[in-house]
Amino acid sequence: MNNNRSTFATKLGMIAAAVGSAVGLGNIWRFPYEVGQSGGAAFIIIYLICVAVLGIPLITSEFLLGRRGRANVGGTFKKLAPKTKWGVIGYMSVLASFLILGFYSVIAGWTLEYVYQAFCNGFAGQSSAELGESFKSFSTDTYRPILWLALFLAANFVIIQSGVKNGIEKASNIMMPFLFAVLLIFCIRGLFLPGAEEGLKFLFKPDFSKIDSSVILRAMGQAFFSLSLGMGCLVTYGSYFSDKTRLAKTSVTVVALDTLVAILSGVMIFPAVFSFGISPSAGPDLVFITLPNVFLQMAGGYFWSILFFILLAVAALTSTISMFEVVTAFIHEEYNVSRKKATAWIISLCFVLAVICSLSIGPWSDFTIFGKTIFDLFDYVSANILLPLGGLLVSIFVGYRLDKNIIKEELSNNGEFKVNYLNLFVFILKYVAPVAIIIIFLSGLGLLG
Ligand code: PHE
Repeated sequence: MNNNRSTFATKLGMIAAAVGSAVGLGNIWRFPYEVGQSGGAAFIIIYLICVAVLGIPLITSEFLLGRRGRANVGGTFKKLAPKTKWGVIGYMSVLASFLILGFYSVIAGWTLEYVYQAFCNGFAGQSSAELGESFKSFSTDTYRPILWLALFLAANFVIIQSGVKNGIEKASNIMMPFLFAVLLIFCIRGLFLPGAEEGLKFLFKPDFSKIDSSVILRAMGQAFFSLSLGMGCLVTYGSYFSDKTRLAKTSVTVVALDTLVAILSGVMIFPAVFSFGISPSAGPDLVFITLPNVFLQMAGGYFWSILFFILLAVAALTSTISMFEVVTAFIHEEYNVSRKKATAWIISLCFVLAVICSLSIGPWSDFTIFGKTIFDLFDYVSANILLPLGGLLVSIFVGYRLDKNIIKEELSNNGEFKVNYLNLFVFILKYVAPVAIIIIFLSGLGLLG
């Protein structure tokens, strides 16, 4: 049935798509404010350990499952463990995709508004307080965010319905080099600002007294979100890998580039923040309020602000297409619905969910469940519950359930080269990853104090 299933056409395209999934708002929007709130370099060191010890083996596992199954995330588990309940991971992944897409697309829509505002010189003449006010009045507005949301989802529709090669791969091939180039320009610019050293010191000089269990847990959670782990994205992309793709090497590349972008985002943001005397601990609003403020004071700020928000929108887009692909492949293959139809249905459903999320910040903000708005609830349930649970199940499945010969065949491309890390790999999946993830999970639920 799957003989004519798509694969990525080129190695570079495959890397661009996988890195595009990982690199997103998580790196440029979330990472810097987490670093800012958790004391800089100490957080980064823990983050790096998590990414290396948990990230690389788990990404490799997801790629391995996808390529072996050569199917969507639900179909993969059904094939590799027939007549068991493991297929449920497929449904969990679909649910996680929708929940993340629900709030993530709203923020992506905001980035478009900010591109527009930057373009119209909309930040000019505003004080910090006014910038904060305009962000608040925009994000809580009923219609305006929805308009941008619709535009953002339309772009996703165009890409996803064109398929893996002509849609996702082509779009990633264009967008990822752009993203890296712009990021580099920003970093170089940031380093030449007066007072930049303060920002770099904050970013690279660790203060270990800041490390406590909550910082460790936050760093692990950030690693999961940033690497797109635990919700079938990498299984789905892995199913489009060619037989020649070296899985472990590809994971290391994805992790290295994702981490590089996160650090570069720090280098882009903190020197500027310090240079203009703004507090580094500003929260999730950092990029929407603090940065326009920074741009206003910077030579050529008009140009920089447009470029920055385009960068943010592009980063978001390469991530949302990977989430949409999880669901599209699932519906298309499991329920025999044409790709176009599946895409149209999924994007429409996502639009409804995202509108609800958007309204929950504005006119419906009084309506809460467990004390959270729907927007916050989607964020909380996906990042703190579904992703860790998905990662846990993947590590248990590959560590305990999957035949070790299958692992060996996939890692070595059927014995084409030697794999000397097999035992270490299985050990981490069997013992290290499950224990670490259970700790994140319980603390995410507030059960570990
Ligand atoms: N990794 C993406 C980011 O950093 C977010 C994402 C999460 C994408 C889960 C796909 C799946 O923005």
